[in-house]
Amino acid sequence: MRYQHTKLFTFFLIFPNKLIKKNNSVIKLAKEKIIVTSALPYANGKIHLGHLSGAYLPADIYVRYKRLNGDDIIYVCGSDEHGVPITISADKEKVSPQVIIDRYHEANKKTFARFGMSFDNYSRTSLPIHHETAKEFFLDFYNRGLFVEHKSLQFYDEKAKMFLPDRYVEGTCPKCGNEQARSDECEVCGALYEPSELINPVSKVSGERPVLKETSHWYFPLGKYQPALEKYIDEMNKKYGWKENVLQYCRGWFKDGLKERAITRDLDWGIKVPIDSAAGKVIYVWFEAVLGYISSTKELSQLKNDPDLWKRYWQDPKTKYIAFIGKDNVVFHAIIFPAILMAWNEGDKDPDRIGAGQYCLPQNVPANEFLNFEGKKFSKSRNWGIDVDEFLDLFAPDLLRYSLAANLPETRDTDFYWKEFQLRNNSELADILGNFINRTFTFVFKHFDGKVPALFKLEKIDEDMLKEISEYPKRVADLFEKYKIRDGVNEIMNLARAGNKYFNDTEPWKTIKSNRERCSTTLNVCLQAIYTLAELFSPVLPFSTEKLFTMLNSKPVDWKDCGKPQLKANHQLNQAEILFPKIEDEKIDAQINKLGSSKVEEVKKEELISYDDFMKIQLRVAEVIGAENVPKSEKLLKLKVRLDNEERQVVAGIAKSYQPENLIGKKIVLVANLQPAKLMGLESQGMILAVETNDGGLQVLNVTETVNNGTRVK
Ligand code: 2FM
Ligand code: ZN
Repeated sequence: MRYQHTKLFTFFLIFPNKLIKKNNSVIKLAKEKIIVTSALPYANGKIHLGHLSGAYLPADIYVRYKRLNGDDIIYVCGSDEHGVPITISADKEKVSPQVIIDRYHEANKKTFARFGMSFDNYSRTSLPIHHETAKEFFLDFYNRGLFVEHKSLQFYDEKAKMFLPDRYVEGTCPKCGNEQARSDECEVCGALYEPSELINPVSKVSGERPVLKETSHWYFPLGKYQPALEKYIDEMNKKYGWKENVLQYCRGWFKDGLKERAITRDLDWGIKVPIDSAAGKVIYVWFEAVLGYISSTKELSQLKNDPDLWKRYWQDPKTKYIAFIGKDNVVFHAIIFPAILMAWNEGDKDPDRIGAGQYCLPQNVPANEFLNFEGKKFSKSRNWGIDVDEFLDLFAPDLLRYSLAANLPETRDTDFYWKEFQLRNNSELADILGNFINRTFTFVFKHFDGKVPALFKLEKIDEDMLKEISEYPKRVADLFEKYKIRDGVNEIMNLARAGNKYFNDTEPWKTIKSNRERCSTTLNVCLQAIYTLAELFSPVLPFSTEKLFTMLNSKPVDWKDCGKPQLKANHQLNQAEILFPKIEDEKIDAQINKLGSSKVEEVKKEELISYDDFMKIQLRVAEVIGAENVPKSEKLLKLKVRLDNEERQVVAGIAKSYQPENLIGKKIVLVANLQPAKLMGLESQGMILAVETNDGGLQVLNVTETVNNGTRVK
């Protein structure tokens, strides 16, 4: 039944997705049909707390709330298993991309489950169902003549004999000057450009300056869709209120003017371009990854033995599609994916293609900003951050869910601090929520045999409290509906605060002696508040609230009904357990002390090298006898160093940490048998050793002046 039971003999106006009483007060929201997706994480590394805060936890809270609201919702995600991020990880480890994706797909799937992510399906883009879906879109566009084929100049590594798409090249962004921009995209300012525009490109494979070589690719005419995209975003924003950060990004893109985008790459890992003349080319990962949401739903259809399930969601114009992402993915979800879907949908005008179906576009793209860790960016190499699995070995998932949810980077970047995590647990979960539950249960078991005490005559304080309880589900829902998940979560804790205050003000420890009926009434009200807290917190704290419902010997009801008294007098409760034990200082201090330290114990066996391997590296002491800046580079210094009886030129990326003159006379450690490489046209005959400091700078390793030049370091 599409609409839930409503009162008879009342006139209703039926608006799309809503059932509204004539006097305009909403009495029953109709079930909405909803697809929720979270960005498909690359299967090339483990997800960290930043990922969870960006695109996963907020989506999971929203989905769990919507399910309790009775909406018809599916939540799909999966691993993004193609593209240069995967091949670079494989190159680094000298294994095949398949090894990398199998390892991290399984690992991330397990971690998400431990964290309580309630995906209906967690798929992967290497599955045949995804390859077929991507090829279907590609061929449809190709056959309809939508793509333009162009010859263009792309970076090519002559040494490695390969084209260098995307992250295989690093250089300076032509728009903002970021020195770590990719071949055709800058992560800092979001600019997209032609490879030939990148300044000072360097190959990630050989460290050489790549050449530009002609190759042919298919381009998607993004510019053609600009007017339709502007109209779409404007309409969605007016109706559903898009986040300001997302609108800002889109406006920037529109202002620059959308250009055609190459949607094929010269790579051998990915979805092969399904055209005979395209050997050695794959579909650009971003063209196909977004289609992964559709193929994940198709896989769900297979798993549920319901072949048309995916169509009932993706191809129903009433479906509300919400794409949760991090801010670095905005252009792909708010512009490129909608344009792909528009291009597909307009294909139905073609008489040969009737019946292919119309896809729904994102109704909202609630992108989050970034989460930092203790004031800095997460960094695996600097051991700055913590692995989610490691975290969950130490603390229950709900503690992490709560502290992340209460501090989501919804409007600005936020930080995870260990001390704040401890405080949120000890002062909020334990002292406010846990204490309210515990003192109420203890009292009810001691004086009322663990049965819900009856309500007798209500006083004003009780009526006010019951009214307040009844208002919370809507108040929180209103925030969740606007994707203000953080505010919603903090609001729920206010109900626990109100509960504690009510308990204190009504003094059951006194009334139990002076007026048992009064005591019974106030404890009943406390238990109704706890029931409401159990339900409202269940999207945030799914593990603890499951236990709390067992303690209440009850189950969740429809979201908006949970604010009404649900527990009947005399209903038997179960014994309480402590849901949120305090976290000791030592446990937190140990984590803080570990930050930034080396992780030797974690080096995997297969990553260890033999003594002979080590001895192959000739580390020698050298004296800096000349140093100067490299023109047009903020990072590089050109050094002249003296070994025992030779001089070498070394180009080192330490310009941000050293004035050239301060290096003269220093005795440094040089990797003396490294193959020469060219950096910005200058030959570098070796590499000097340096460590990264906590502030992200570099410190060159020094030996005392008494050590002779050329001495071997062993
Ligand atoms: O940024 C990332 O991790 C991408 N793998 C996100 C892809 S989202 C969608 F396109 F699948
Ligand atoms: Zn830039």
